[in-house]
Amino acid sequence: MADQNRTITLNNGVTMPILGFGVFQVADDQAEQVVTDALAAGYRAIDTAASYGNEEAVGRAIAKSGIPREELFITTKMWIQHTGEDTARREFDKSLQRLGLDYLDLYLIHQPLGDYYSSWHAMQKIYGEGLAKAIGVSNFYPDRLVDLITHNDIVPAVNQIETHPFFHRADYQQLMSEHGVQIESWGPFAEGKNDLFTNPVLAEIGRAHGKSVAQVVLRWLLQRDVVAIPKSVRPERMAENLDVFDFEITEDEMIRIGALDTGASLFFDHRDPAMVTWLGGRRVD
Ligand SMILES: NC(=O)c1ccc[n+]([C@@H]2O[C@H](COP(=O)([O-])OP(=O)(O)OC[C@H]3O[C@@H](n4cnc5c(N)ncnc54)[C@H](OP(=O)(O)O)[C@@H]3O)[C@@H](O)[C@H]2O)c1
Repeated sequence: MADQNRTITLNNGVTMPILGFGVFQVADDQAEQVVTDALAAGYRAIDTAASYGNEEAVGRAIAKSGIPREELFITTKMWIQHTGEDTARREFDKSLQRLGLDYLDLYLIHQPLGDYYSSWHAMQKIYGEGLAKAIGVSNFYPDRLVDLITHNDIVPAVNQIETHPFFHRADYQQLMSEHGVQIESWGPFAEGKNDLFTNPVLAEIGRAHGKSVAQVVLRWLLQRDVVAIPKSVRPERMAENLDVFDFEITEDEMIRIGALDTGASLFFDHRDPAMVTWLGGRRVD
């Protein structure tokens, strides 16, 4: 696993592991063990969020690991309820405290909803103070991202968006790249939707390389320079998902995966008024 620690360089020169570990839907009482296992497997980037309710458990696992802080890349996100300049600052401090850290590697606006412009102003200050090495956004559609870039000083380093074999975001990746924004995939396996793990095209490509569907998906993302943060609570799958640096998907196979793109979300539409109302009403504490 020669390149297990391969990194990409963000628009401010900060380096970020191209393959990390996500902890969405990992309960607080399970997250400490899960992150401990992930760090033992070799992951160095952990992606959490205030809304996941497991920052404290993630923090305990980090502290317990004894891994030097500078070898880790820790991301968390601010929830919609906490947008606004003063609130964002307070919530950042709370996240840091829950994680037991004195700086974050990446702080993200979780959703393009609420008063996120004011949050961005607070985050620019947080970045200026060196408390977050990089700041970015998540779930921003192209118009929202370009608008934020146009009216602010700092260009988000990252946009974490749904990206998987059924929703490629290739055009959007190109646009982000023109603005210096790194694409990061959430839901690289689409959480198993659309029978991803038994998809015949992905399975056949896997067989050709002696790899699983999960490994094919992650390799495909890495070859597209997309940061990926797969989640698993099982140590054997954590190891499997890291073991993707010893094979190459061919151009022909990339094209075959290209044909799986539906161009649409399998989860939700951020422009659906009912979804915007639901997300905006969700309270995380
Ligand atoms: N910014 C956002 O709005 C947002 C939204 C969603 C997710 N995220 C981030 O992205 C991360 C990843 O996305 P996700 O957790 O939604 O879904 P995902 O990584 O696409 O899929 C996770 C699912 O795949 C299973 N799995 C993992 N490895 C496998 C393997 N090798 N073989 C078979 N099954 C496997 C897991 O089961 P087991 O756990 O049982 O192994 C789990 O059910 C999250 O944890 C979170 O950090 C962000």
